[in-house]
Amino acid sequence: MLLFFFIIHIVVSSSKSFIITKPTSAKYSTSLPLFWKIANKNELQCSSPKKIVFNDFPIAIYKDKFHKFVAISDICVHRGASLSRGTLLNNNCLQCPYHGWEYKNGLVENIPGCPDVTGGLFGAPQFELKELNDDIFMRPTYDINSNTGITYNHTIYIPPEASDKKFVRISGKLCMKRPFSMVTENVLDMMHISYVHSFGNPLSPVPFKIQYEDLDPLSGKTTFHYTSGFSSMSRRLGGAKFVIVENEFHLPDTTVTRVTANHLVKTIITHCYPVSKTESILHYELYRNFLTSHTLNPLFHSQMIKALHEDINIMHSVYDDYFIGFMSNKYDITQLNYRKKMKWFLKNETDIN
Ligand code: FES
Ligand SMILES: [Fe+2]
Repeated sequence: MLLFFFIIHIVVSSSKSFIITKPTSAKYSTSLPLFWKIANKNELQCSSPKKIVFNDFPIAIYKDKFHKFVAISDICVHRGASLSRGTLLNNNCLQCPYHGWEYKNGLVENIPGCPDVTGGLFGAPQFELKELNDDIFMRPTYDINSNTGITYNHTIYIPPEASDKKFVRISGKLCMKRPFSMVTENVLDMMHISYVHSFGNPLSPVPFKIQYEDLDPLSGKTTFHYTSGFSSMSRRLGGAKFVIVENEFHLPDTTVTRVTANHLVKTIITHCYPVSKTESILHYELYRNFLTSHTLNPLFHSQMIKALHEDINIMHSVYDDYFIGFMSNKYDITQLNYRKKMKWFLKNETDIN
């Protein structure tokens, strides 16, 4: 029954509109049809367009004259120039830098020297965006302009810490020269912490209790119970003998690692999207309810960057063909369920197509 509901939520739209866009949706439909975090709003504050590459497909993002974010294919339909190198004109059109064609939300509005051309009938695909929690999320599989592609109804995960005044947040991003699924699984892998990270507890690297629960068709959560290290922040600041780590995934791109030691809570959220098969962008947010003075933000930033470089270092040594590996049903339970749900989603999508 659950599967049935899941399937009917996936909508494959057929093109009934007369608007023609290029490339057609088949070109960018290889990702999960969900909202992926592609930027923090601060990254897109200036008026000039920015280019991102999502799963080998170039996308131009800009803020229009009405302060609305717009994401369109970066490829000019005339001769293929990169639209993100264009200029936003006073008529709210993005002008291609090569021969001056003007695009409104991806559709060609004006062509220099061709006053008879009717605007808004053809052009480039435009992708759905959502602004939430100061971040920008994009669905890369559906073209609003031609009304074609794949969608799936879901709620974008926002952690409770985001609306809790006791927490402060820092955020950032890093380019990883590894596949997005490897990067995401690494964050869902608790057993590497004590071996890879300087903040781990080598004296007690194994949790004494582990519990996995399914949250919904797109997410799952494992709770780990650890003994805290003698020199750890949990022990020194929180006086905690034990530490609870909640490790969650929310498809397509999100992980949560919430570390609780008595009243101290530190939560790290990551979002990872594919740039190509071998490269990805990892966005991170860190929320904390202790040492909340903003003057300490640089300290938490540098801890985060240090930890991520420790991750990058070990991931670079992993042989790609062996990454699937012999997994442990006990300690790798979160990654196993992440794989299972990802596979299930992709299979159902394939069946429908
Ligand atoms: S390539 Fe864009 S207007 Fe010619
Ligand atoms: Fe790590």
